[in-house]
Amino acid sequence: MRALIFGLLVVLALPLLICGFVIYTWRVRRIVIPQNISGTASEPFGGRLAMHVAGTYKDEVAYKIAHHTPLFGGIVRFLFLDTLGFCAKLSGFKGGFFAYPGPRPSTLMTMMSHRTHFFNQSIQDVLSREDNPATQLVVLGAGFDTRCYNLPEGADIKCFEVDMPPTLNAKKRALQLAEVAHDHVTFVETDFNQETWLKALLDSGFNPNLTTYVLWEGVTMYLVEEAVRDTLNLIASLPTGSVVGADFFSQDLIQGNPPFEKISKAMLRGIKYQYSENLQFGIPTGETLSEGLEEYLSESELKLARFEHVGSTEDKKPPWYFFAHIEKH
Ligand SMILES: C[S@@+](CC[C@H](N)C(=O)[O-])C[C@H]1O[C@@H](n2cnc3c(N)ncnc32)[C@H](O)[C@@H]1O
Repeated sequence: MRALIFGLLVVLALPLLICGFVIYTWRVRRIVIPQNISGTASEPFGGRLAMHVAGTYKDEVAYKIAHHTPLFGGIVRFLFLDTLGFCAKLSGFKGGFFAYPGPRPSTLMTMMSHRTHFFNQSIQDVLSREDNPATQLVVLGAGFDTRCYNLPEGADIKCFEVDMPPTLNAKKRALQLAEVAHDHVTFVETDFNQETWLKALLDSGFNPNLTTYVLWEGVTMYLVEEAVRDTLNLIASLPTGSVVGADFFSQDLIQGNPPFEKISKAMLRGIKYQYSENLQFGIPTGETLSEGLEEYLSESELKLARFEHVGSTEDKKPPWYFFAHIEKH
């Protein structure tokens, strides 16, 4: 019933939503792509914002900075997000992409909330455990992530956000305009495909002797394999107990192997057409789905400690998207 009321409200609000979508798309073409700002960074950001406006997931900082970001800024936040949030709240509908932490097995519709929940838990466990908690948080390919601004109260964590300059500058600008305190965050400009992120980090004051949590969310699939290997090797050089939280697409999806021929083509083309970005890297899955990643990690001193996937193994198509909590032993 709630879903039906939500559907009806959305139909009534369609003119506002369509206007929001048109302006968003125009900004992708006219602002984001020409300025080399990551467009894909706005997709997970939009997912978290949708959950926030529906009241299922609290991220006030994300909502505040959204007003000053290239794609959701100004009128788009109102036309798109506030309108959707209003429909969700009025109808009481909290399912689909609004659901948090969402159902398991998760689906294409709920994968963003599954991902957000997986990494929130992973970060919280490592920052707040009694024994050897992480005292540095590094967000690789930070985009519009807000973990550094939603730390537990009183936590004394040194934060680093690493990304390419155009995206980092857009983020810094949004934080400044939204008056979000960010003195505890060091912004590091780098390209993972060209230089080691650790060198750029070290030059910015990162301490490789401290136990560290590295969040690498929504990034590996955009990198070349060498960059993924280099980054894992560098994480393996951090102190014992350091953790990297990372997500991976399956190699079969990226390579378009059966049964992913059609979906692979559609995804690769869609992201290329919409944002001018390329999906490049996928993890071999193996029989048990986690086997391929374990094998991949076996060359380093990293151990796969937790692993979840989107979808069910009983689906016609096997899972193609994986979340991993990887620990330095
Ligand atoms: C899909 S977004 C994910 C953003 C954020 N982690 C999140 O989950 O909201 C991918 C991010 O990785 C960054 N990125 C992609 N390739 C990169 C590279 N070669 N070097 C540095 N950053 C990169 C993009 O600029 C973008 O901000």
